[in-house]
Amino acid sequence: MAEFKIAPSILSADFARLGEEVVNVLASGADIVHFDVMDNHYVPNLTIGPLVCDALRKHGVTAEIDVHLMVKPVDRIIPDFAQAGASYITFHPEASEHIDRSLQLVKAEGCKSGLVFNPATPLSLAEHVLDKVDRILLMSVNPGFGGQKFIPHTLEKLRQARKMIDESGYDIDLEIDGGVNVKNIREIAEAGARTFVAGSAVFGAAKADDPNQYDSILAAM
Ligand code: DX5
Ligand code: ZN
Repeated sequence: MAEFKIAPSILSADFARLGEEVVNVLASGADIVHFDVMDNHYVPNLTIGPLVCDALRKHGVTAEIDVHLMVKPVDRIIPDFAQAGASYITFHPEASEHIDRSLQLVKAEGCKSGLVFNPATPLSLAEHVLDKVDRILLMSVNPGFGGQKFIPHTLEKLRQARKMIDESGYDIDLEIDGGVNVKNIREIAEAGARTFVAGSAVFGAAKADDPNQYDSILAAM
């Protein structure tokens, strides 16, 4: 049976209490910490960098940290995130000068690698590098902001990605990011996703000052 994992995006967490938020969401059953890195260049927003990843590790977070790079260029920040404790480093092919080289760099730094596809980016970009990819991430919104609506066409793209992965014979995870919530998660799973990023659906539903605030939302997913 397929294994499903929930990766709350800390983009929608309370940054003033980030360590606490991450500990609570993991205690409530989340599997992965999704870490959105935006540079106000590749995407029109600015978020967090390696210092914050390192701070979470120092706070005692041992779960997988799934670094989603929305930055350009990508290569020079990869070693910094590896050093800061990233588990996966995922980048957009459009932001890399040499996709194969960037994937090799992620691996050489001891991390797992991922390629992320914007809604309009064709999956064919992964065709010749599947042997170097541990995760394919499909964006179901345009990157840059949390709280957007799931783009329905992504379901068809997920089915294509599932087929491409299964036919390749490689052990590649299939992750979805953007507009995932308790209402649409089943349909998304049926289309082939195995790892589900959810930002506003998890942190937006939270009630302040309740340490078990994420239990019910994660149980519903
Ligand atoms: C968007 C980010 C997402 C975002 C998801 O660029 O990559 O991870 O935080 O947020 P929701 O789940 O609210 O769409
Ligand atoms: Zn993301």
